[in-house]
Amino acid sequence: MSLPATGSRGARPSDGPTDAVLTVDHLDVVYRAIPQVHAVKDVSLTLRRGEILGLAGESGCGKTTLAYAVNRLHEPPAEVTGGTVTFHDRDGTDIDLLALGDEPLRRFRWDKLSMVFQGAMNALNPVLSVRAQLDDVLRTHRPRMTRADRHARCTEVLELVGVDPARMNGFPHQFSGGMRQRVMIAMALLLDPQVMIMDEPTTALDVLVQRGILHEILRLRHELGFAVIFITHDLPLLLELSDRIAVMLRGEVVEYAAADELYARPSHPYTRQLLGSFPSLTGERGGFLRTGDGAATAEPTGSGESAASPGSTVAGATPDAVGTEAGAPGAQLTKEQP
Ligand SMILES: Nc1ncnc2c1ncn2[C@@H]1O[C@H](COP(=O)(O)OP(=O)(O)OP(=O)(O)O)[C@@H](O)[C@H]1O
Ligand SMILES: [Mg+2]
Repeated sequence: MSLPATGSRGARPSDGPTDAVLTVDHLDVVYRAIPQVHAVKDVSLTLRRGEILGLAGESGCGKTTLAYAVNRLHEPPAEVTGGTVTFHDRDGTDIDLLALGDEPLRRFRWDKLSMVFQGAMNALNPVLSVRAQLDDVLRTHRPRMTRADRHARCTEVLELVGVDPARMNGFPHQFSGGMRQRVMIAMALLLDPQVMIMDEPTTALDVLVQRGILHEILRLRHELGFAVIFITHDLPLLLELSDRIAVMLRGEVVEYAAADELYARPSHPYTRQLLGSFPSLTGERGGFLRTGDGAATAEPTGSGESAASPGSTVAGATPDAVGTEAGAPGAQLTKEQP
């Protein structure tokens, strides 16, 4: 993996995990299929407390595989063949995620690190009310909570994501796609995790709903202080949303820099290609979201690899094919610092 020279915000894993909440170090993931796929190659990333780290790259480059491995959700034929994933807990302890036993792992997930799955709007259980599904997470992870406290918490998280709590007894089919997506985000927030991994959380939604949800995520991050790994192939969106961005290409992180650095001085040809492939409202390529010197000049080659996402390996999670929405022209997201 090659890391570019970056500005002061572009720290590297070797900088040490002083304010880090998650460190991925030289991670390798292989699908033992025929032919074998080396989906994640020597990936090193550091997620700092409260930051939004964007993970960009074309379909099939390994984003979801990386997210699954970090959360230990990968299943055969996927296999982690090298590297480490370390969670730096609030209380100062380091947790070696790849070494966690089943029970500690079960307690860890959702509680300290939660995930909004690709295609999450279809991941709710259709035969259980929203309330029952939120309540279930609380009953499992917070067994001492009273029924009244659980209800209060469910109300609170639904309000946080802009869903009317009065609707919590409804079933998923009674909610719009955007609302279901918000419910999934509410579920991911339920236990006040330190990290949220969001895999294409809004790709299937129309642009205005997408923007609304992203505003909420920025606001919540500001209010609650969690860190986010935000995965999408939509680089312009990440430029607005992220503090730092890692760009993946065929399993490798080829560029890893502060968002503004990456925009102003993309160091890898693939990043330049990605930046150059989004049309602007004014007809210039790559210039519609950030004002700048238009470093993005390379022409797109249309060489995007199309590949299947990993199958649904978690109960209720249904990763699906990505859509092709580019970043929304118009309304800009205003980044709030944690
Ligand atoms: N179960 C599997 N068996 C074999 N190969 C797989 C499996 N799941 C995924 N792959 C391969 O691993 C690579 C990475 O896939 P992954 O789904 O992680 O990409 P992605 O970046 O998330 O793509 P997308 O943007 O389409 O969601 C691809 O080449 C894919 O074909
Ligand atoms: Mg994916």
